[in-house]
Amino acid sequence: MSKKLKIGIFGYGVVGSGLAHVLKNSKGLDASIVKVCVKNAEKERDLDSKLLTTNPDDILNDPEINVVAELIDDAEAAYGIVKKALQKGKHIVSANKKMLAYHVEELIQLQWQHNVSLLYEASACGSIPIIRNLEEYYDNDLLQSVSGILNGSSNYILTKIFNENSDYQIALKEAQDLGYAESDPTSDVGGFDTLYKLILLGVHGFGLFVHPDEVFNCGISNLSTHDIQLASQKGYKIRLIGKVSKVNGNQVNLLVAPKFVKPNEHAYTVDSHYNGVVIQGNFYDNQFMYGKGAGAHPTGSAVLSDITALAYDYKYEYKKLKYYGGLQFTNNMDVEIYLRYSDKKDLSLFNFKEISESLTGKEFNYIIGTLNLSELIKIREQLLEKDIFLAYFGEE
Ligand code: HSE
Repeated sequence: MSKKLKIGIFGYGVVGSGLAHVLKNSKGLDASIVKVCVKNAEKERDLDSKLLTTNPDDILNDPEINVVAELIDDAEAAYGIVKKALQKGKHIVSANKKMLAYHVEELIQLQWQHNVSLLYEASACGSIPIIRNLEEYYDNDLLQSVSGILNGSSNYILTKIFNENSDYQIALKEAQDLGYAESDPTSDVGGFDTLYKLILLGVHGFGLFVHPDEVFNCGISNLSTHDIQLASQKGYKIRLIGKVSKVNGNQVNLLVAPKFVKPNEHAYTVDSHYNGVVIQGNFYDNQFMYGKGAGAHPTGSAVLSDITALAYDYKYEYKKLKYYGGLQFTNNMDVEIYLRYSDKKDLSLFNFKEISESLTGKEFNYIIGTLNLSELIKIREQLLEKDIFLAYFGEE
């Protein structure tokens, strides 16, 4: 049964304004925006100024508002808003992957306690309905892995570099101008945004809460022409991939890193700000979901889909948590990596088990070999300061 939705929006940036526009074009839904809370009410916006407020309580304490769309940038502030709104008995729709990656376990408990719904399809892969599908269709233990391109900005940059020989900084600036990048783009290019999204896929795909600090993530900011040339010589592209997979029987690993992608892999075909997710399971093998992963309207449409779902009282059931628990997180997994480094001393940080290829040159050095991920995670912080680029080889 459809019900009247009175929406209070926090944030009117790329996603908030995208939602307002998408909502205007969705006549069938009985939903209206009652208030929009912003930091600066003076800024010019395509919005009736009577709707604007700078006081969060105007939304949180308004009994007429039954849905809060939390679409702000600041993860800590978002956490406070979502917590209070749940406690006030309001349904939440959020696009804040960072906030959710750190707090989803507690927020799930709160929504149960207050008998409301917390939905966040827009927080992972923009317009691709990956969370709802993991929740509803992949609700059994056949699922083996979910992997792919989860960040539109880094993919936009990599596409520009590989296809058009663009300069990294120019491509990054374009991704920012187009509204794809986070306000601090380190999150995009450093693999953090992918990590936060992957954590949510782990919750819905495998019923596992993993703290972001436990997962190895590295990004593309140190990519050089040497890496691109090597990838091209081998017939690969480099893509930033997030993968959550079952390993060693009853364990699950999460990994975010650049990957050499072969022409027969789905990710090879995913260009620009598009995202692509491969779902792999026993008996059904591979399935692929593809769509726009960033930007005002694609993300706004995912928020709208959650709002629509609230009209018929939809809640995530967390079936994997309730019925298929018992999987443990692990980093005990061998990976084959390519490591390009300039300072030879840096090599001593890496505990390679096997080396299949290496080059020491005037301009750069590289090594391809196998090591255990648990060794890499130990040196993650140190890697951030080094002039190295790391990418891995493997199945999609
Ligand atoms: N900065 C994100 C991206 C936005 O580029 O994918 C969508 O989550």
